[in-house]
Amino acid sequence: MNAVPPAAPHQENLNSGPSITAAQRSNLLPFTARGYSWWRARSLSLLGAGAFPLAREERLFRALCRPVPGELWLDVGTSTGFYAGALARCGARVVAADLSGPMLSEAARREPSPAITWTRMNVEVSGLPDASFDGVTVGATLNETHDPARLLREVARLTRPGGQVWLMYLRRTAGPVQALLGVPALGGLTFPDPGWVQRHLPGLRRTAALGVGAVQFEQFVRGA
Ligand SMILES: C[S@@+](CC[C@H](N)C(=O)[O-])C[C@H]1O[C@@H](n2cnc3c(N)ncnc32)[C@H](O)[C@@H]1O
Repeated sequence: MNAVPPAAPHQENLNSGPSITAAQRSNLLPFTARGYSWWRARSLSLLGAGAFPLAREERLFRALCRPVPGELWLDVGTSTGFYAGALARCGARVVAADLSGPMLSEAARREPSPAITWTRMNVEVSGLPDASFDGVTVGATLNETHDPARLLREVARLTRPGGQVWLMYLRRTAGPVQALLGVPALGGLTFPDPGWVQRHLPGLRRTAALGVGAVQFEQFVRGA
């Protein structure tokens, strides 16, 4: 792909209305954005994946997805830009999208690469053309978006035939903490199981999966 697609033209009022979760709303705060990288560096280890620093996550992603120079990727819910930065270090170009302006400011400060276009967007309704991207990364955004099924449909639509999708998410464990975090006022988080995820990625085939504690990594490829 050569051109970075234009930003969605219809995305006013991103932060209002009933269609964002309490978790999404919390990420709009500058305070959350400032602390996010600290949490992210430790999150997988603290969430039961054993010793899982970011360098290990980046190695896993690169080994399975092998992004190459010239490809165009979408990073869905980039937060402070972990996957966007990993992709740029491989020579890929990246549209790094997030609902949160403070997250994007923090990300642009931490990952100042000309290969990354930071975009404020609700990816559930991106408005971007079909098959815009060679690859899409979704690092835990699936857990907090308002309508994860709609987000996955959009991800499938935006991936070109033969392109790939990389997911990292917390899968369902049926534990009490997940039940609490699913209550709308306490976060409105969703913890999907891998079968449900596969069913909501029409036309994509799962090519790799790794579960470590509750953390699930998956690679999918869109049929040609
Ligand atoms: C759990 S964090 C993602 C972490 C990041 N992907 C990483 O791997 O470090 C979720 C982020 O996704 C953003 N987000 C949630 N729902 C979104 C949506 N529908 N469209 C765009 N961004 C979204 C939030 O603002 C937040 O910054």
